[in-house]
Amino acid sequence: MTRILMVCLGNICRSPLAHGILKSKLPIDRFYIDSAGTAAYHIGNLPDSRSIKVAKTHGIDISDQSARQFKVSDFDTFNYIYAMDASNYNNIISLARNNKDIGNVKLFLEENASISNKNVPDPYYGDMSDFEHVFNILKSTSQLLSEKLIRNHL
Ligand code: 4NP
Repeated sequence: MTRILMVCLGNICRSPLAHGILKSKLPIDRFYIDSAGTAAYHIGNLPDSRSIKVAKTHGIDISDQSARQFKVSDFDTFNYIYAMDASNYNNIISLARNNKDIGNVKLFLEENASISNKNVPDPYYGDMSDFEHVFNILKSTSQLLSEKLIRNHL
């Protein structure tokens, strides 16, 4: 089993979408996908209603997810940890115990050479058009990542 973790700040807007989209593109018996937030604000909450809505519009159900906080043992559980932006990346790295932990963490958008800004914008204070924009970025990047994972791990 290859395990992939998507991480943002609250685990209610961006990483639940990345989690749901990537999961929809990979065989469930070979890939385990999860998401977490570096902050504790929303532990136990459903994804933001706007993330649930934009995912549903595109045929993906993320309403079974509940927010949790990133924990040090995630470095042991997951083969790949993807941060949604540089701030989340730095938060994760600050918890790393060694170079092996650090080596498994990347910015998610490093998987997409056609996007130059490597930060997925935080849509929390935005509107549905911001969530739609985030969905499209996450969808195109998840497609590229799923192709790479299938090439390397299937
Ligand atoms: P996320 O968005 O990191 O994509 O889940 C946010 C959610 C909540 C907050 C900030 C960003 N917040 O400040 O509560």
